[in-house]
Amino acid sequence: MSTVKNIVLIGFMGTGKTSTGRLLAKMLGYRFVDTDQRLEELYGCSVSEMFANEGESVFRERETALVKDLAAYKRQVISTGGGIVLNQQNMIMLRKTGMIICLTATADRILERVGRRNTRPLLRQENCREIIIDLLEQRRELYNKADFMIDTSERTPRQVSHDIIRTIKMAGVKLKCVR
Ligand code: S3P
Repeated sequence: MSTVKNIVLIGFMGTGKTSTGRLLAKMLGYRFVDTDQRLEELYGCSVSEMFANEGESVFRERETALVKDLAAYKRQVISTGGGIVLNQQNMIMLRKTGMIICLTATADRILERVGRRNTRPLLRQENCREIIIDLLEQRRELYNKADFMIDTSERTPRQVSHDIIRTIKMAGVKLKCVR
């Protein structure tokens, strides 16, 4: 039985990567890293400000540099920004560093979740629902490359965390928990 080094959560905005990742890390006694939050700490400004001031491509370069750094550590739950899948290099590094779980949700559920507090620069527009549907379609194949997909539409972060643990164990991979 192999041991999983890190658990990497990928998926579209509003699928619950951050809230689930934080809880899952706590349940396993792993370190929690959210790539957006880490970039905000490193660069001293919000993701929206990075998009507005430096542009999306600079944000993407920073994201890739961070993935490279994180790949050196073990026992982490890494919640990634929804666009991490756009760079194939990111996915190659993440795959080497752990098991990749994609969280999914319906477009309506995503809209409802991101609408509550819209901090996402890509969705700050009138036709938000159409943009979500378009981006989901554009990225579908990239998200499908995950080891496992878990639909979070009707589930709480706690339920999803349990689903993830069960899924990993069923795959015959060992989790090195400290609790
Ligand atoms: C993005 C998703 C966001 C953030 C940025 C771009 C995307 O992260 O990285 O706004 O391209 O899907 P969340 O998925 O955590 O919202």
